[in-house]
Amino acid sequence: MSNIKVGIIGLGRLGKVHAGNLAFRVPNCELYAACSMVEAELEYAKKKLGVTKTYANYDEMVKDPELDAIFIVSPSGLHCEQIQKAMENGKHVFSEKPIGLDVAEIEKTMAVIDAHPEQIFMLGFMRRYDADYQYAKEMVEKGELGELTVVRCYGIDPSDGMESFVKFAGASNSGGLFADMSIHDIDLVRWFTNQEVKKVWALGKNAAYKQLDEVGELETGAAMLQMEDKTMGILVAGRNCHHGYHVETELIGTKGMLRIAQVPEKNLVTIMNEHGVVRPTSQNFPERFSQAFVNETAEFINCIKENRQPGVNANDGLQSTKVAIACQKSYEEDELVLLSD
Ligand code: NAI
Repeated sequence: MSNIKVGIIGLGRLGKVHAGNLAFRVPNCELYAACSMVEAELEYAKKKLGVTKTYANYDEMVKDPELDAIFIVSPSGLHCEQIQKAMENGKHVFSEKPIGLDVAEIEKTMAVIDAHPEQIFMLGFMRRYDADYQYAKEMVEKGELGELTVVRCYGIDPSDGMESFVKFAGASNSGGLFADMSIHDIDLVRWFTNQEVKKVWALGKNAAYKQLDEVGELETGAAMLQMEDKTMGILVAGRNCHHGYHVETELIGTKGMLRIAQVPEKNLVTIMNEHGVVRPTSQNFPERFSQAFVNETAEFINCIKENRQPGVNANDGLQSTKVAIACQKSYEEDELVLLSD
């Protein structure tokens, strides 16, 4: 089988990372086409990434008979419709998280995916493809921590993105803090425990940027989850981390506990200077999960070549969005929310 030809939609913050991986770092594929509403991004794709075709209109790109697969890295509210169109045009599909922001729309999208079982569908929960998370998962599966009782997750974006977030918060369609940020942690809790979430209670506070109250967005939020077997999930999500990009996960079990990135270290360097003993911290998601993004894309391409579906699928998208919506509802209505099956 020759190289898989991929068309990407979205060349923003994350789109550029995926596009660079598809063009230069992942074997057996070719970044053949790119679609964006921004002319400068299409110029970048042509000049820096060497793509053959650029499109301002997604409906035209999905019809391109040269393309085997579509990579969706557009704003979250567009994913469902774009997945459906790509599937209906016979393409394999990788979609960034969240799969969608509305349960009915996701269920409709899943029906379209299910109607095309010969096409590959993968969702971008890249932490599952990070070597440290895989190491921890293997320990859990081997029973080395015993039975899990608590999974605690922190996901806090760097505060250098706050000014622009606050500026565009009113117009953004992120789905709120829990759908935008906690969704990775919700997926991790489901992945590590092999359980679904039954109950959530979420809270939030805007302290540094109180104006976010007016547009219904959150700077910091926290949620407690109860799983089917009563394992507890504790999530902290935020957008205002002054030391960089803080993603930390802790698993507590009956025989032991482990932490992944309890200090979000950038590298193995320790600096001794007028500030004391300084350990540099990771600064953003492309840096922290650089290899995980490559790994997940390599898995998508391998799945196409080997005609098998990946381990992270549309149902993972549906379940995580349902929990994120429940967290948002719990925060907004100040009540405990039960999830139905
Ligand atoms: P962004 O706002 O930086 O970029 C969006 C891109 O989509 C731009 O290139 C824009 O031109 C394009 N676009 C928007 N509407 C379009 C349309 N109708 N037709 C064609 N192109 C269109 O967004 P960002 O931060 O790159 O996020 C994109 C997606 O990736 C989101 O769904 C987000 O949740 C997800 N994401 C996932 C991360 C992860 O850790 N896996 C990290 C960051 C983002």
